[in-house]
Amino acid sequence: MDFHYKDIVPWGRSFDEYLDMFNLSEDDLARDIVGVGDGPASFNTRMHQRGTPIVSVDPVYRYSEAELRQRIQDTYEDVIAQARQNEDKFVWTKFSSVDELAEIRMKAMDEFCRDFESGKQQGRYIDASLPNLPFPDHHFDLVLSAHLLFFYSANRDLAFHLDAVQELLRIGTEVRIFPIVDVNSNSSPFLSPVIDVLEKDGITCSVERVPYHFQKTGNEMLVATNT
Ligand SMILES: C[S@@+](CC[C@H](N)C(=O)[O-])C[C@H]1O[C@@H](n2cnc3c(N)ncnc32)[C@H](O)[C@@H]1O
Repeated sequence: MDFHYKDIVPWGRSFDEYLDMFNLSEDDLARDIVGVGDGPASFNTRMHQRGTPIVSVDPVYRYSEAELRQRIQDTYEDVIAQARQNEDKFVWTKFSSVDELAEIRMKAMDEFCRDFESGKQQGRYIDASLPNLPFPDHHFDLVLSAHLLFFYSANRDLAFHLDAVQELLRIGTEVRIFPIVDVNSNSSPFLSPVIDVLEKDGITCSVERVPYHFQKTGNEMLVATNT
């Protein structure tokens, strides 16, 4: 049985997963970064702890820590049950089992939750949604977005993807989107049309292999750069 989500779920990955998903170097980590659709991932938390704070954007940041913990708990049963039914769609090297996956993800999301209220006050967690983000043009050097665009191709149409990617390029110089396959590891029907439109607008696009390999076909990101 395939993965099926009624809508985009709040579910977050760890700092180490972010490093590999976006192939981030130490030089990249020193750049002015925004993560769009970061949800309950612990990337922002760890960047803050390292002394190089970043900004994360997500509509779930309108909720309180308690409400977010409840939403994560509600999501947990569904995501883990679907992962068990779809074990064959993943490469089990980074994680040895669904149980270990669940443990690592819940630890990352707990780190995020403990950081959330203070981070929100500090302006590190901003409640906003694509395709309209509350930042001036070219405000960031590096824009990261994981497990939202292309991943939820069954839940958002081509028009949304085009508007969203153009908005990411409006606020930043370089945009990295991971993965470029959907929740079932199928190629997104929107990747080629998005790249075509961007290239016509003079944006440089490349599909790059990354060290992160969990979904069987999910070890590539799209890099789009304003030139
Ligand atoms: C599956 S989570 C991924 C979280 C994190 N990026 C990661 O890879 O672990 C997808 C996130 O996208 C957020 N989201 C949904 N619609 C959005 C939109 N229009 N703009 C920004 N974020 C959105 C959801 O609230 C959710 O937290």
